[in-house]
Amino acid sequence: MAEIRHFLDLDLLDAASLRAIVDAGIAFKGGTTPPAVAAAFAGKTLAIILEKPSTRTRVSFDVGMQQLGGRVVVLSDSGSHLGRGETIADTARVLSRYVDVIVIRTDAHQRLHELAANASVPVINALTDQTHPCQIMGDIMTFEEHRGTITGKVVAWSGDGNNVAATWIHGAQRFGFELRLACPPSLAPPDAVVDWAKREGASVRVTDSPAEALAGADLVLTDVWVSMGDSDADKRKALLAPYRVDEALMARAKPDALFMHCLPAHRGEEVTEGVIDGPHSVVWDEAENRLHVQKGILAWCLG
Ligand code: CP
Repeated sequence: MAEIRHFLDLDLLDAASLRAIVDAGIAFKGGTTPPAVAAAFAGKTLAIILEKPSTRTRVSFDVGMQQLGGRVVVLSDSGSHLGRGETIADTARVLSRYVDVIVIRTDAHQRLHELAANASVPVINALTDQTHPCQIMGDIMTFEEHRGTITGKVVAWSGDGNNVAATWIHGAQRFGFELRLACPPSLAPPDAVVDWAKREGASVRVTDSPAEALAGADLVLTDVWVSMGDSDADKRKALLAPYRVDEALMARAKPDALFMHCLPAHRGEEVTEGVIDGPHSVVWDEAENRLHVQKGILAWCLG
Protein backbone atom coordinates (compact mmCIF):
# COMPACT_ATOMS: atom_id res chain seq x y z
CA MET A 1 0.00 0.00 0.00
CA ALA A 2 1.27 3.51 -0.86
CA GLU A 3 2.50 5.59 2.08
CA ILE A 4 -0.08 8.09 3.36
CA ARG A 5 0.97 11.67 2.64
CA HIS A 6 0.31 13.57 5.88
CA PHE A 7 1.08 17.32 6.01
CA LEU A 8 2.00 17.60 9.68
CA ASP A 9 5.04 19.88 9.93
CA LEU A 10 7.64 21.45 7.65
CA ASP A 11 10.51 19.66 9.42
CA LEU A 12 8.85 16.30 8.61
CA LEU A 13 8.69 17.02 4.87
CA ASP A 14 11.53 17.33 2.38
CA ALA A 15 12.46 20.62 0.74
CA ALA A 16 11.49 19.42 -2.77
CA SER A 17 7.93 18.55 -1.71
CA LEU A 18 7.51 21.91 0.05
CA ARG A 19 8.84 23.77 -2.99
CA ALA A 20 6.42 21.84 -5.24
CA ILE A 21 3.50 22.81 -2.97
CA VAL A 22 4.35 26.53 -3.06
CA ASP A 23 4.73 26.37 -6.85
CA ALA A 24 1.38 24.58 -7.10
CA GLY A 25 -0.21 27.34 -4.98
CA ILE A 26 1.11 29.96 -7.42
CA ALA A 27 -0.26 27.93 -10.36
CA PHE A 28 -3.67 27.54 -8.66
CA LYS A 29 -3.77 31.30 -8.08
CA GLY A 30 -3.07 31.78 -11.79
CA GLY A 31 -6.21 29.78 -12.51
CA THR A 32 -4.54 26.53 -13.51
CA THR A 33 -6.17 23.32 -12.26
CA PRO A 34 -4.55 20.42 -14.13
CA PRO A 35 -7.14 17.92 -15.45
CA ALA A 36 -5.52 15.17 -13.36
CA VAL A 37 -6.07 17.25 -10.21
CA ALA A 38 -9.72 17.96 -11.07
CA ALA A 39 -10.25 14.23 -11.70
CA ALA A 40 -8.55 13.32 -8.42
CA PHE A 41 -10.88 15.59 -6.39
CA ALA A 42 -14.17 14.63 -8.04
CA GLY A 43 -16.32 12.94 -5.38
CA LYS A 44 -13.71 13.43 -2.62
CA THR A 45 -14.62 14.72 0.86
CA LEU A 46 -12.57 16.77 3.34
CA ALA A 47 -13.34 16.77 7.07
CA ILE A 48 -12.23 19.87 9.00
CA ILE A 49 -11.95 19.32 12.78
CA LEU A 50 -11.89 22.62 14.67
CA GLU A 51 -11.09 22.39 18.37
CA LYS A 52 -10.22 26.11 18.36
CA PRO A 53 -11.76 29.13 16.60
CA SER A 54 -10.83 30.02 13.03
CA THR A 55 -11.89 32.39 10.26
CA ARG A 56 -9.21 32.15 7.55
CA THR A 57 -8.31 28.48 7.93
CA ARG A 58 -11.89 27.28 8.04
CA VAL A 59 -13.11 29.34 5.09
CA SER A 60 -10.02 28.89 2.91
CA PHE A 61 -10.00 25.09 3.28
CA ASP A 62 -13.77 24.89 2.73
CA VAL A 63 -13.76 27.14 -0.36
CA GLY A 64 -10.54 25.61 -1.71
CA MET A 65 -11.83 22.04 -1.51
CA GLN A 66 -15.08 23.03 -3.21
CA GLN A 67 -13.22 24.88 -5.98
CA LEU A 68 -11.24 21.69 -6.59
CA GLY A 69 -14.50 19.77 -7.03
CA GLY A 70 -14.71 18.13 -3.60
CA ARG A 71 -17.04 18.37 -0.60
CA VAL A 72 -16.46 19.49 2.99
CA VAL A 73 -17.73 18.49 6.45
CA VAL A 74 -16.83 20.69 9.45
CA LEU A 75 -16.74 19.19 12.97
CA SER A 76 -16.52 21.34 16.09
CA ASP A 77 -16.02 20.22 19.69
CA SER A 78 -19.53 21.17 20.67
CA GLY A 79 -21.14 19.72 17.54
CA SER A 80 -19.44 16.31 17.66
CA HIS A 81 -18.57 13.62 20.21
CA LEU A 82 -15.02 15.00 20.48
CA GLY A 83 -16.46 17.47 22.99
CA ARG A 84 -17.98 14.59 24.96
CA GLY A 85 -14.79 12.58 25.34
CA GLU A 86 -14.66 10.34 22.25
CA THR A 87 -10.95 9.76 21.66
CA ILE A 88 -9.08 11.34 18.79
CA ALA A 89 -7.91 7.83 17.77
CA ASP A 90 -11.48 6.53 17.47
CA THR A 91 -12.47 9.70 15.63
CA ALA A 92 -9.60 9.10 13.19
CA ARG A 93 -10.72 5.50 12.53
CA VAL A 94 -14.35 6.52 11.97
CA LEU A 95 -13.66 9.57 9.77
CA SER A 96 -11.27 7.49 7.64
CA ARG A 97 -14.28 5.35 6.65
CA TYR A 98 -16.19 8.42 5.38
CA VAL A 99 -13.73 11.03 4.07
CA ASP A 100 -10.57 11.23 1.96
CA VAL A 101 -8.54 13.81 3.89
CA ILE A 102 -8.74 15.34 7.39
CA VAL A 103 -7.71 18.85 8.48
CA ILE A 104 -7.34 19.47 12.22
CA ARG A 105 -6.84 22.56 14.40
CA THR A 106 -6.17 21.58 18.00
CA ASP A 107 -4.58 22.83 21.21
CA ALA A 108 -2.35 19.83 21.79
CA HIS A 109 0.28 18.90 19.22
CA GLN A 110 0.11 15.31 20.45
CA ARG A 111 -3.52 15.08 19.27
CA LEU A 112 -2.39 15.88 15.72
CA HIS A 113 0.04 12.95 15.79
CA GLU A 114 -2.51 10.65 17.41
CA LEU A 115 -4.99 11.51 14.68
CA ALA A 116 -2.43 10.83 11.94
CA ALA A 117 -1.28 7.57 13.55
CA ASN A 118 -4.83 6.21 13.58
CA ALA A 119 -6.12 7.61 10.29
CA SER A 120 -5.93 5.72 7.02
CA VAL A 121 -6.29 8.98 5.03
CA PRO A 122 -3.99 12.04 4.92
CA VAL A 123 -4.06 14.46 7.88
CA ILE A 124 -3.22 18.18 7.59
CA ASN A 125 -2.06 20.35 10.51
CA ALA A 126 -4.16 23.55 10.56
CA LEU A 127 -2.48 24.86 13.76
CA THR A 128 -1.49 23.36 17.08
CA ASP A 129 0.01 24.92 20.18
CA GLN A 130 3.44 24.20 18.63
CA THR A 131 3.21 24.88 14.89
CA HIS A 132 1.19 26.37 12.01
CA PRO A 133 2.69 25.03 8.77
CA CYS A 134 -0.16 26.00 6.38
CA GLN A 135 0.35 29.64 7.42
CA ILE A 136 4.07 29.68 6.67
CA MET A 137 3.52 28.01 3.28
CA GLY A 138 1.06 30.78 2.36
CA ASP A 139 3.45 33.42 3.65
CA ILE A 140 6.37 32.09 1.62
CA MET A 141 4.15 32.01 -1.47
CA THR A 142 3.18 35.64 -0.76
CA PHE A 143 6.80 36.75 -0.40
CA GLU A 144 7.77 35.02 -3.64
CA GLU A 145 4.91 36.47 -5.70
CA HIS A 146 6.04 39.97 -4.67
CA ARG A 147 9.81 39.62 -4.51
CA GLY A 148 10.92 36.35 -6.17
CA THR A 149 12.65 33.48 -4.41
CA ILE A 150 12.89 33.66 -0.62
CA THR A 151 16.10 31.62 -0.66
CA GLY A 152 18.99 33.79 0.57
CA LYS A 153 16.71 36.58 1.82
CA VAL A 154 16.59 37.99 5.38
CA VAL A 155 13.38 37.37 7.33
CA ALA A 156 12.87 39.07 10.71
CA TRP A 157 10.35 38.31 13.46
CA SER A 158 9.56 40.68 16.33
CA GLY A 159 7.35 39.47 19.18
CA ASP A 160 6.26 36.27 20.86
CA GLY A 161 8.29 33.17 19.97
CA ASN A 162 5.05 31.25 19.45
CA ASN A 163 3.83 28.42 17.20
CA VAL A 164 4.03 30.61 14.09
CA ALA A 165 7.59 31.70 14.94
CA ALA A 166 8.61 28.06 15.51
CA THR A 167 7.30 27.11 12.08
CA TRP A 168 9.26 29.96 10.48
CA ILE A 169 12.34 28.27 11.99
CA HIS A 170 11.44 25.04 10.18
CA GLY A 171 10.88 27.11 7.02
CA ALA A 172 14.31 28.79 7.24
CA GLN A 173 15.97 25.39 7.04
CA ARG A 174 13.78 23.97 4.29
CA PHE A 175 13.70 27.10 2.06
CA GLY A 176 17.23 28.41 2.81
CA PHE A 177 16.66 31.96 4.10
CA GLU A 178 18.26 33.78 7.04
CA LEU A 179 15.86 34.10 9.98
CA ARG A 180 16.33 36.51 12.89
CA LEU A 181 13.88 36.37 15.77
CA ALA A 182 13.61 39.17 18.32
CA CYS A 183 11.73 37.92 21.40
CA PRO A 184 11.77 38.59 25.14
CA PRO A 185 14.01 35.86 26.63
CA SER A 186 11.10 34.33 28.55
CA LEU A 187 9.01 34.12 25.34
CA ALA A 188 11.75 32.84 23.03
CA PRO A 189 10.99 29.90 20.71
CA PRO A 190 11.65 26.45 22.22
CA ASP A 191 15.35 25.54 22.41
CA ALA A 192 14.58 22.18 20.77
CA VAL A 193 13.38 23.87 17.57
CA VAL A 194 16.32 26.31 17.45
CA ASP A 195 18.78 23.48 18.16
CA TRP A 196 17.20 21.39 15.38
CA ALA A 197 17.65 24.27 12.93
CA LYS A 198 21.30 24.72 13.92
CA ARG A 199 22.00 20.99 13.62
CA GLU A 200 20.43 21.08 10.15
CA GLY A 201 22.68 24.01 9.11
CA ALA A 202 19.98 26.69 9.01
CA SER A 203 20.77 30.38 9.52
CA VAL A 204 18.62 31.14 12.57
CA ARG A 205 19.45 33.68 15.27
CA VAL A 206 17.43 34.58 18.37
CA THR A 207 18.01 37.96 20.01
CA ASP A 208 16.17 40.25 22.43
CA SER A 209 16.80 43.28 20.19
CA PRO A 210 14.14 44.05 17.55
CA ALA A 211 16.31 46.80 16.06
CA GLU A 212 19.12 44.29 15.51
CA ALA A 213 16.80 41.64 14.06
CA LEU A 214 15.12 43.96 11.58
CA ALA A 215 18.28 45.70 10.29
CA GLY A 216 18.28 45.30 6.49
CA ALA A 217 15.49 42.68 6.50
CA ASP A 218 13.55 41.79 3.34
CA LEU A 219 10.49 40.63 5.27
CA VAL A 220 9.19 41.67 8.70
CA LEU A 221 6.76 39.49 10.67
CA THR A 222 4.85 39.62 13.90
CA ASP A 223 1.83 38.00 15.54
CA VAL A 224 -0.61 38.69 18.36
CA TRP A 225 0.80 38.96 21.87
CA VAL A 226 -1.93 36.89 23.49
CA SER A 227 -2.63 33.73 21.50
CA MET A 228 -5.61 31.41 21.92
CA GLY A 229 -5.10 29.59 25.21
CA ASP A 230 -2.67 32.12 26.81
CA SER A 231 -3.84 33.12 30.31
CA ASP A 232 -1.25 35.73 31.40
CA ALA A 233 -2.36 38.58 29.10
CA ASP A 234 -1.19 41.57 31.16
CA LYS A 235 2.27 40.12 31.80
CA ARG A 236 2.73 39.22 28.14
CA LYS A 237 1.66 42.70 26.95
CA ALA A 238 4.19 44.36 29.29
CA LEU A 239 6.99 42.06 28.16
CA LEU A 240 6.19 42.45 24.47
CA ALA A 241 5.62 46.24 24.32
CA PRO A 242 9.21 46.95 23.11
CA TYR A 243 8.66 44.47 20.26
CA ARG A 244 5.69 46.33 18.67
CA VAL A 245 6.29 46.80 14.95
CA ASP A 246 5.83 50.54 14.49
CA GLU A 247 7.00 52.87 11.72
CA ALA A 248 10.38 53.51 13.42
CA LEU A 249 11.15 49.81 13.78
CA MET A 250 9.94 49.06 10.25
CA ALA A 251 12.35 51.74 8.97
CA ARG A 252 15.23 49.52 10.16
CA ALA A 253 14.34 47.03 7.39
CA LYS A 254 15.12 47.49 3.68
CA PRO A 255 13.20 50.37 2.04
CA ASP A 256 11.19 47.85 -0.03
CA ALA A 257 10.71 45.34 2.81
CA LEU A 258 7.38 43.55 3.08
CA PHE A 259 5.33 43.32 6.27
CA MET A 260 3.20 40.27 7.08
CA HIS A 261 0.92 39.25 9.95
CA CYS A 262 -0.99 35.98 9.91
CA LEU A 263 -4.09 37.71 11.38
CA PRO A 264 -6.24 38.37 13.32
CA ALA A 265 -4.34 41.54 14.32
CA HIS A 266 -4.63 43.90 17.26
CA ARG A 267 -3.74 47.35 15.94
CA GLY A 268 -1.90 49.35 18.60
CA GLU A 269 -0.57 46.21 20.32
CA GLU A 270 1.84 44.07 18.24
CA VAL A 271 1.63 46.40 15.21
CA THR A 272 0.64 50.00 14.57
CA GLU A 273 -2.11 50.95 12.16
CA GLY A 274 0.48 52.84 10.10
CA VAL A 275 2.42 49.64 9.44
CA ILE A 276 -0.33 47.06 8.94
CA ASP A 277 -2.37 49.44 6.76
CA GLY A 278 0.73 51.07 5.22
CA PRO A 279 2.74 50.63 2.01
CA HIS A 280 4.92 47.72 3.20
CA SER A 281 1.98 45.55 4.23
CA VAL A 282 0.80 42.59 2.12
CA VAL A 283 -1.48 41.07 4.76
CA TRP A 284 -4.52 40.76 2.48
CA ASP A 285 -2.53 38.93 -0.20
CA GLU A 286 -1.15 36.79 2.63
CA ALA A 287 -4.66 35.89 3.81
CA GLU A 288 -5.80 35.16 0.24
CA ASN A 289 -2.83 32.92 -0.44
CA ARG A 290 -3.88 30.52 2.32
CA LEU A 291 -6.60 29.48 -0.14
CA HIS A 292 -4.22 28.85 -3.04
CA VAL A 293 -1.37 27.18 -1.18
CA GLN A 294 -3.77 24.90 0.71
CA LYS A 295 -5.07 23.66 -2.65
CA GLY A 296 -1.44 22.76 -3.31
CA ILE A 297 -1.30 20.95 0.04
CA LEU A 298 -4.56 19.07 -0.63
CA ALA A 299 -3.35 18.07 -4.10
CA TRP A 300 -0.01 16.89 -2.69
CA CYS A 301 -1.77 14.86 0.03
CA LEU A 302 -3.98 13.12 -2.51
CA GLY A 303 -0.94 12.43 -4.69
N1 CP B 1 -4.04 32.95 10.52
C1 CP B 1 -5.01 32.05 10.82
O1 CP B 1 -4.77 30.84 10.94
O2 CP B 1 -6.26 32.58 10.90
P1 CP B 1 -7.53 31.87 11.57
O3 CP B 1 -7.22 31.67 13.04
O4 CP B 1 -8.67 32.82 11.34
O5 CP B 1 -7.75 30.55 10.89
